Amino acid sequence: MELVYTIYLFLNLAPWLVLGLPPIWTQPEQVHLSYPGVPGSMEVTWTTFNKTDSTVEYGLLGGRLFDLSTQGNSTLFVDSGDEKRAMYIHRVILIGLKPTATYVYHCGSDEGWSDVFYFTALNDSVHFSPKFALYGDLGNENPQSLARLQKETQMEMYDVILHIGDFAYDMHEDNARIGDEFMRQIQSIAAYVPYMTCPGNHESTYNFSNYRNRFSMPGQTEGLWYSWNLGSAHIISISTEVYFYLDFGQELIFRQLEWLEKDLQEANHPENRAVRPWIITMGHRPMYCSDDDQDDCTKFDSYVRLGRNDTKPPAPGLEDLFYRYGVDLELWAHEHTYERLWPVYGDKVYNGSMEQPYVNPKAPVHIVTGSAGCRERTDKFNPNPKDWSAFRSTDYGYTRMHVVNASHLYLEEVSDDQNGKVIDSIWLVKEKHGPSAWL
Ligand SMILES: *[C@@H]1O[C@H](CO)[C@@H](O)[C@H](O)[C@H]1NC(C)=O
Ligand SMILES: *[C@@H]1O[C@H](CO)[C@@H](O)[C@H](O)[C@H]1NC(C)=O
Ligand SMILES: *[C@@H]1O[C@H](CO)[C@@H](O)[C@H](O)[C@H]1NC(C)=O
Ligand SMILES: *[C@@H]1O[C@H](CO)[C@@H](O)[C@H](O)[C@H]1NC(C)=O
Ligand SMILES: *[C@@H]1O[C@H](CO)[C@@H](O)[C@H](O)[C@H]1NC(C)=O
Ligand SMILES: *[C@@H]1O[C@H](CO)[C@@H](O)[C@H](O)[C@H]1NC(C)=O
Ligand SMILES: *[C@@H]1O[C@H](CO)[C@@H](O)[C@H](O)[C@H]1NC(C)=O
Ligand SMILES: [Fe+2]
Repeated sequence: MELVYTIYLFLNLAPWLVLGLPPIWTQPEQVHLSYPGVPGSMEVTWTTFNKTDSTVEYGLLGGRLFDLSTQGNSTLFVDSGDEKRAMYIHRVILIGLKPTATYVYHCGSDEGWSDVFYFTALNDSVHFSPKFALYGDLGNENPQSLARLQKETQMEMYDVILHIGDFAYDMHEDNARIGDEFMRQIQSIAAYVPYMTCPGNHESTYNFSNYRNRFSMPGQTEGLWYSWNLGSAHIISISTEVYFYLDFGQELIFRQLEWLEKDLQEANHPENRAVRPWIITMGHRPMYCSDDDQDDCTKFDSYVRLGRNDTKPPAPGLEDLFYRYGVDLELWAHEHTYERLWPVYGDKVYNGSMEQPYVNPKAPVHIVTGSAGCRERTDKFNPNPKDWSAFRSTDYGYTRMHVVNASHLYLEEVSDDQNGKVIDSIWLVKEKHGPSAWL
């Protein structure tokens, strides 16, 4: 009996003898920043696999390390895959930062600290000229542009990065381990500058739960739609995906529309538009594109552009709304190419003039930039683009945007295939903003 019991005990313990005790995971990882939209603030988000406190310790560059400390909290995120992998997403909002000052920080708790990173608090002046890198469709596999973006970000070429949907390919895969690995990959940029996002179709699994849980955008919509200001720009981020995944709730289309109209109205109050004349939108699926696939934008009746009439009630699209409120620039991705459009509305070109199409354009300007690099490679173009197509490239790369002042905005496209060569650029010049600029 005694012997049997001993053997029984041994067999029970056998897994521990072979594998050791289960590890504990209190070490912070996947550190990234975002801008909560309030001057002098910055949000730090990271992951641990066991529950810990959420603390950011920081200090001015050149000053005493970590003499400031702010607490936040964490939420438990359980992925919906078979393994139901669980992780804690920590969020800490730093406030009262000195604009343009550089801070050194780490995050975690007494059970483990991250590496040391730095960031520069955004200049809150409306005269500030922010520089952005922007792209969509960056994956865990074949993230072609990532190395160049890492180096340029660490060289402080950008104040903010905009990732216009489609992350990791896909964050939920391998029980969300692909999401973890992707968030580790982008830490080398996203821990240094605010990494602002919108959802794409590759985030749709489990109702966008990996997207909604892993990022921390302004507003109360788990990053689905929100807006914020920087320099002379008002930047609006939307979910084009509400038009495509009706099973997650048709009401999301209308909730977003209602919010959008209010936000655009507010941004157009004369006293607001006077100081932040640029209204820039970002959303994943374009209204227009000339790619050779069956995507929404390849059809004349794009859902994003014209809405859907198979919903109850019919859902208006976004082209008219953006036009009525004088949106200046619309940034898109999804197509794994780069395409610049002449000013366009209702499928027609409205150049400023034949010689200077982007000087006082009579309609919004669209840029489609989804070639950062992912396992799906790049897309092909339709050989006969419409009149609105101004420049196209199938090189891997990303876009740079410089909002210089109230009248001048500069855009350029970087080819990663051509070692960082700038293959396209424009100056968008507007003496007047708002719907009256179209007349
Ligand atoms: C730590 O996290 C692992 C993985 O999620 C989990 O299996 C384990 O139960 C956790 N341990 C504690 C002490 O919370
Ligand atoms: C987490 O922190 C935020 C910001 O400080 C706060 O608004 C929220 O109530 C906190 N949540 C919990 C559960 O403590
Ligand atoms: C912010 O930018 C403006 C415009 O370039 C500049 O005049 C101002 O000095 C900057 N603010 C700080 C604190 O450096
Ligand atoms: C999907 O998520 C959105 C945003 O959180 C929520 O409003 C909606 O009800 C969810 N849909 C379903 C079917 O759970
Ligand atoms: C409904 O939309 C489709 C395409 O989105 C279009 O072809 C059709 O004409 C529309 N029908 C009505 C009645 O508006
Ligand atoms: C717009 O300007 C471009 C560049 O000058 C020109 O090629 C194109 O034909 C113009 N389109 C219209 C409709 O004026
Ligand atoms: C805005 O920037 C452009 C380009 O640098 C410059 O030519 C122009 O003079 C600036 N406008 C003002 C009002 O400073
Ligand atoms: Fe996409």
